[in-house]
Formats: sequence, structure tokens, C-alpha cells
Amino acid sequence: MALDLAAELKKNPFVLAPMAGITDCAFRTVMRDLGCGAVITELVSAHGIEYKSRKTLDLMRFDEGQRPVGIQLFGETPEILAEAARVVEDMGADFVDLNFGCPVPKVVKKGAGSAILKDLKAVEAVFRTVKAAVAIPLTVKIRTGWDESSRNASEVVHIAAEEGLSWVAIHGRTRSAGYSGEADWDFIAGVKAKARIPVIGNGDILTPETAVRRLRETGVDAVMIGRGCLKNPWIFSQAAGLWRQGEVPSVRKDFAWLFERLHDSMARQDGIEERVLMLQLKKFASWYSTGYPGASQFRRTIFQHETLAATRTAVASYFDGIAALIQADTSQEAFLMGGHG
Ligand SMILES: Cc1cc2nc3c(=O)[nH]c(=O)nc-3n(C[C@H](O)[C@H](O)[C@H](O)COP(=O)(O)O)c2cc1C
Repeated sequence: MALDLAAELKKNPFVLAPMAGITDCAFRTVMRDLGCGAVITELVSAHGIEYKSRKTLDLMRFDEGQRPVGIQLFGETPEILAEAARVVEDMGADFVDLNFGCPVPKVVKKGAGSAILKDLKAVEAVFRTVKAAVAIPLTVKIRTGWDESSRNASEVVHIAAEEGLSWVAIHGRTRSAGYSGEADWDFIAGVKAKARIPVIGNGDILTPETAVRRLRETGVDAVMIGRGCLKNPWIFSQAAGLWRQGEVPSVRKDFAWLFERLHDSMARQDGIEERVLMLQLKKFASWYSTGYPGASQFRRTIFQHETLAATRTAVASYFDGIAALIQADTSQEAFLMGGHG
């Protein structure tokens, strides 16, 4: 029987946002350990699936412990997306997620990603065709609209409900806003108020307090957190504690465990080169250092290490020194201002 995704959101309303190049199989495993709810792969090209390229199949890989796990697809035509959705179902994923939010020119030029939002007939055709192709649930992630003058998220949610989708996740910016300004949570609340299926709100959640405030104030069924967990990997368990028990639980910031788990999870991937593993660890370490004393000096030096062993030693030494310190609020600083959704 298909999984009841609405029930899953009730169990855990703190969902990990898909982030290309970041939320791969290894990272999702660690984030599930740290308490996030459902997870979704980064966007995968439906065309790539048709040709079964090794790289594409790698992006679609998931572990049993990640369930509920969805595979996110982007593509131009309903038929290609439906064909790809069948492959997703055969792989045993819990749900298919459609990317209607990607603002990147290479994707929208072909009519994929957020470009579909410009044409509600096309939205309906994709939903209908993909839904008919699979028995597992279908979800979609959108922006509020293409631009300020065409914010049609409510219409898209209406069509999604008519066509039997299980949820709509909304990044509270238009395609033309890119990552500038702030996510418009009042708009998301307005869409949710009229929705007949679950709505997940997304954008700029950087603290457990904000996560819970957005849930309470907007009435959304869940929130999706992306960049916030790259600054604070404990945000999911802290938010869940605040939501259920009314206060943020004190978590031990066990960076040694975190980096060990990330390392081991990445190292298990078939054919991963030591150079790639080292680079990934450097990236995570530099994000997690945000707001701690000495972070800019640490970032300058960490990328100079040439071996994995030296990188791991430097990471351990820096994070041992800061784990007991308070992380400063860096919400006003630009942080990863671009992505595929
Ligand atoms: C580096 C990066 C990659 C992203 N890749 C994807 C993606 O593959 N699919 C998608 O739907 N959204 C993608 N996004 C958008 C995020 O899922 C999310 O909507 C956005 O970052 C706003 O949420 P946040 O403020 O919590 O990060 C990406 C964002 C970033 C920063």
C-alpha cells in the first residue's frame, strides 16, 4: 500500500530540503540520524534516467534508513517525466517529487523547473500524466510563482489537489527573485488557508524557534529546511523538541561524531575518490564553522590541506575548540544564494 505522506508529516513536520551537490545519499543518512523527517534527492534529469547514465543512477540511490524518501525529477514533457517516475517506483522509492521551482537558466530555457509555472495547462498535464503512471504518491516543489505579477501558487495547489498529489512544498520566493529578499511566509499562509492537501512551507528557516513559529503562525503542515542545517546540523532535533515539549532541548554538539559519521557515510559510496571525500569534508566543515570564533581564519586554512588525513586532523582540532561556544547569529550574511529550487 502506498505510504500515507500526510501521516508522515504529522509524525515529523521538519523536512530536509533537497539541495543539489549537498543532500546526497550520505548526507541524507546523517540528517535522518539527526532527526529530520522525510528526505528528497536533489533534482534528477528525467532525460538522464531515460539513458540510465551512471551519474544519474548515483543521484537516485538511497538507503533503507532514509525512508520516507522521495526522488525529485525535472524534465520538459509529461511523457518523459512519467517514464522517469516509473523508474523511480521500480527502484522502491516512497514517492516521486516534481521540481517546478528550479530558477536556473539552463533548466528554465528548456521549459523545465519553474518555467512550468507560467502555464497552468502544462502543470495540469504533467500532474495528470505522471500520477497515472505510478501507484506511489506524487508531490511537487514550487516557487510562489514565476514573477511578482504572476504569483499563482494557490492555483497550482488547487490543480495538485484535483489531480491527487500528496503535498505541495512552496519556497516562498518567485522565480525572478532568485534568492534575493526574504521568503514571503504571509503569502504561503494565504495559500495554505485555501489548500485541500498538505502544504509545506520553505525559505530562510535558520533556527529551531523560527521553524516552530512558522508552523504555528502559518498553519502549514510542515516546514522544509535547507541552508539552515548547513549552519546548525542539530536544527531538526531542536525544532522537534521545541514543537513537542515547548522548549529547545539542549543538544551536545558532538562534532567529532558528526564528522566521523559524514566521513564513514561518504566513504561507503562506491568508487568515491579520496580527493572528492576530502573536498566534501572541507565544504561541510566550512559551513558548520559559520558564526563561531575564528571561522574565517579556519576557512582560509582548511582548503590548503592536501590530504584527507591532514584535513580530518585540522577539522577535529578546530571543532574541539568551539563545540562548547555559542554560535553567533549570521542570518543577515549572504549564505549559498543560489540553487535548483
Ligand atoms: C545549493 C542549493 C541547491 C539546491 N538544489 C535544489 C534541488 O535540487 N531541488 C530543489 O527543489 N531545490 C533545491 N534548492 C532549493 C532548496 O531546496 C530551498 O528551496 C531553498 O534553499 C530555500 O530554503 P532554505 O532557505 O531553507 O535554504 C537548492 C538550494 C541550494 C542552496
